[in-house]
Amino acid sequence: MAETTIDLRGTPLAEAYDELESQTRAVLEGIDDPIAAMATMSALIHNAFGHLWTGFYRVVEENRLLRVGPYQGTLGCLEIEFGRGVCGTAAATRETQIVEDVMTFPGHIACDARSRSEIVVPVFSADGSLIAVLDIDSEQVGQFSEQDRTGLEKLVEWFRRSE
Ligand code: SME
Repeated sequence: MAETTIDLRGTPLAEAYDELESQTRAVLEGIDDPIAAMATMSALIHNAFGHLWTGFYRVVEENRLLRVGPYQGTLGCLEIEFGRGVCGTAAATRETQIVEDVMTFPGHIACDARSRSEIVVPVFSADGSLIAVLDIDSEQVGQFSEQDRTGLEKLVEWFRRSE
């Protein structure tokens, strides 16, 4: 089992995400618990890249409401309606949202005023239903790229596994 989080700043992104994926699998070996997986991924991603906020919003009312789940960073908003902000948009469309500059995103919810860019990735279970979104916020404008989308979408494939 991986004993600690690894700082991956400076590592090429594709390689960094491969490393995160194998760490995640190693830490979660034998554990079939989505909340434990959300906590583990939040800690690994957050410390690997030094993001501002990294965590999950869980679907608590289908097509209506997200509630905060495991995260790392400053205090997050507790609930977000589908369709509101970047998280609610990712949940409603079931598609990853990359926001280069949060100031230009209508309805962006600022839980932390330092947030400048954001990526939100939908999380699906084995039966294809949306169970959460993974939200990552950065203090830098334009922090997230298509490589982050690819890496993160692959990482959350963990939740699709069927035992
Ligand atoms: N910025 C997000 C809200 C969540 S937090 O920043 C932790 C949004 O617009 O959906």
